[in-house]
Amino acid sequence: MEWILWDETMNTGHAGLDEDHRKLVALINRLADGLTNHKGAAFCRDAFGQLVEHVQQHFAMEERLMAEHGYLDAERHKAHHATLFEEVRVLSDAIEAIGAGASPSVSLLDFLEVWLKHHIDGLDRSLAAAIPGS
Ligand SMILES: [Fe+2]
Ligand SMILES: [Fe+2]
Repeated sequence: MEWILWDETMNTGHAGLDEDHRKLVALINRLADGLTNHKGAAFCRDAFGQLVEHVQQHFAMEERLMAEHGYLDAERHKAHHATLFEEVRVLSDAIEAIGAGASPSVSLLDFLEVWLKHHIDGLDRSLAAAIPGS
């Protein structure tokens, strides 16, 4: 079972952002699968690594769009990205422990779900409305 089910209410209306967000959901689901189904340390480490990499690329892509279009709320949005990235990055130790056999923490996966949905629903929706591509 998927941890996060994509639904149309998560679309911002910007094709590039929405495609990236769907990929983020898929990567969180892969990590959740590894953690909850005890797929082992190597699987979990790989899934987490892919998620972190995609988050980094995704934030960079949004920040390029902000620069290209002179987006007025860019500084606040970028500061939020920096906080979000740090919040995900520090999960690394917990992922390692779970991958090595500790019980998966549902709160950790809940955290990622809330983190993503809040990210999409707030600042990203405002960004999508302000730039071409919708
Ligand atoms: Fe985003
Ligand atoms: Fe964003």
